[in-house]
Amino acid sequence: MADAAGLPGDRARRAAVARMIRVDHAGEYGAKRIYQGQLAVLGRGPKGDLIRHMQAQEQAHLDTFSAMVAKRRVRPTALLPLWHVAGFALGAATALLGERAAMACTVAVEEAIDAHYAAQAASLGEEEAELRGVIERFREEELEHRDIGLAHEAEQAPAYRLLSAAIKAGCRVAIAASERV
Ligand SMILES: [Fe+2]
Ligand SMILES: [Fe+2]
Repeated sequence: MADAAGLPGDRARRAAVARMIRVDHAGEYGAKRIYQGQLAVLGRGPKGDLIRHMQAQEQAHLDTFSAMVAKRRVRPTALLPLWHVAGFALGAATALLGERAAMACTVAVEEAIDAHYAAQAASLGEEEAELRGVIERFREEELEHRDIGLAHEAEQAPAYRLLSAAIKAGCRVAIAASERV
């Protein structure tokens, strides 16, 4: 049944897009907090500038999604306070294990976000070309972050495979929760 807001199909599409913006806003918020956690431990070390570069890009990603949340009146996830703490804790904890573990965390998170953004971009049509363009542009930068991690010996971190699998699983849970809650 059509209503003043448009056809039911439009409504479903708008709801799907709102979920995308909600979860992407949450993800960029979490990403920024992860790098802040890393910087709390490694900020004065040799990797400090590199991590600050990535954190600045996450801040720009977050600012873009914050503006979309406001403009499109999307309800932000109720889990932001959780990601505030959990993101920072993940960044700081892996950094405490060492620079390589911090880089392993970066690789795992960015790979999870790459898959997430790729799926989103593939599902968006011409009517959301602007959002799709933003997602594709950010995805490029997330892949740049992954490559930085790999170039800085992420794979030589202790228990790399276990660490990576655990962090990716955590990211998938965070994504699923942030779409809904
Ligand atoms: Fe990002
Ligand atoms: Fe990133």
